[in-house]
Amino acid sequence: MKILVFAGSTRQQSFNRRLAAVGAEAAHIEGAQATLLELADFDIPMYHADLEARGTPADVIRLKEIMDAHPAWIIVTPEYNGSYTGLLKNTLDWASSPVAGHPVFADGSRPFAGKVVGMLSASNGALGGLRAQSHLAPLLINLGCWLAPRQYALPRAASAFGEQGQLTDPAQQAQVQAVVSQVLWAAERLHGTE
Ligand code: FNR
Repeated sequence: MKILVFAGSTRQQSFNRRLAAVGAEAAHIEGAQATLLELADFDIPMYHADLEARGTPADVIRLKEIMDAHPAWIIVTPEYNGSYTGLLKNTLDWASSPVAGHPVFADGSRPFAGKVVGMLSASNGALGGLRAQSHLAPLLINLGCWLAPRQYALPRAASAFGEQGQLTDPAQQAQVQAVVSQVLWAAERLHGTE
């Protein structure tokens, strides 16, 4: 099973990027093929329809193709003001916009419809960014994703990671593993072992 993992932050020392790496490793442990994607590697402007009318940026198409090639996703969201980040919203808005005349992306259903998605978040606060997940969930469902019921929010993230980037608390590692495992379980049932 191919699973895509990405975080809604590009910050160098981002807790959520670090948690995404833990999620990708958890997927490897489950025997899946994980792609850890960095949004910083994509040159994606702030969305507006005039820009889209001039032609979807090449990096948006590149991102959509990568998303489309993975039946399962893990999205790791930071929490800004009780919600997910503008970066994540802009990325998902572009990714959901139809590409006129494109053989695969013209009707806007791909790459979202039918994807099995798990959510994680990390914050140094006590709630671990859980409120960001509660805002992200309806967006994903609206786009036709199958959302894993299991989710995990990592609190006190500044002291959660060891020197190798691992979660030092085995109970927290087990929580991440459980989310990833459930996403893979559901994706295999919906998509086979693609
Ligand atoms: C935050 N932060 C934050 N944290 C939180 O737990 N709940 C919140 O509502 C907010 N709100 C918020 C608003 C804004 C504008 C900023 C810049 C920050 C703190 C935030 O979670 C923290 O900066 C994380 O480190 C961001 O995630 P990364 O970049 O570490 O992945």
